[in-house]
Amino acid sequence: MPDTSPSRTAAIVPAAGRGERLGPGAPKALRTLAGLPILVHAVRALASARSIDLVVIAAPEDGVDETRSVLAGIDTEAEIVIVAGGDTRQGSVARALLALPSDVDVVLVHDAARPLVPPDVIDRVASAVRAGHEAVIPTLGVVDTIKEVDADGIVERTLDRSRLHAVQTPQGFTRAVLQSAHALSDASDATDDAGLVERMGVAVHVVPGDEEAFKITRPLDLVLAEAILVRRRAAGGVV
Ligand code: C5P
Repeated sequence: MPDTSPSRTAAIVPAAGRGERLGPGAPKALRTLAGLPILVHAVRALASARSIDLVVIAAPEDGVDETRSVLAGIDTEAEIVIVAGGDTRQGSVARALLALPSDVDVVLVHDAARPLVPPDVIDRVASAVRAGHEAVIPTLGVVDTIKEVDADGIVERTLDRSRLHAVQTPQGFTRAVLQSAHALSDASDATDDAGLVERMGVAVHVVPGDEEAFKITRPLDLVLAEAILVRRRAAGGVV
């Protein structure tokens, strides 16, 4: 008999970072990009992807009400849930995991700081998980030559660029694998969720990322993001 039990795909958005590298101001996710908070762009992108049923946002602990009001205007059929984030990115993801309804079996984790991720990338990651991969990350090739440098500023070695990938989000997982990864005792020092899954010895599958899924970190990234939105608007897209 076919399995008819409901199963939904959720996106978790850690959005509780201060964004200090962007300069002083509001938490990064609540700063404005083309007139709307960065977080609104990110949540709209996720909610517009065919694969996403539910979006859980980990907001700054002192910004839950503000986050709720900025997201209230989003026109979407996807369910939106807001929780208070933690002191670290992984703490924020862990809190969002606790808020997932029981019928969610696939979870994507997406940085609020990547507001322009194309829906195709989101659907590609979700499909690869549904196709049987327990952990999936979108990546791009690296354009710069990357070297390891010691504390005295001396180059130790040059890495083989052809094997290096820059990792983006959303990263997708079966719920069981992501929950086990976050239960690891040393989870808080990881910079991404797939890193935790690797520590468990689970294979992480790579799919193509997209240049527009870049992370807004420094002031110049905001200039690039505004330019992309101007181009999308000129092409008739929703901004
Ligand atoms: O600092 P970084 O740019 O690597 O942060 C990646 C993502 O993690 C951002 O979306 C940020 O809001 C989120 N984050 C969080 N809770 C923290 C720190 C970062 O949700 N305590």
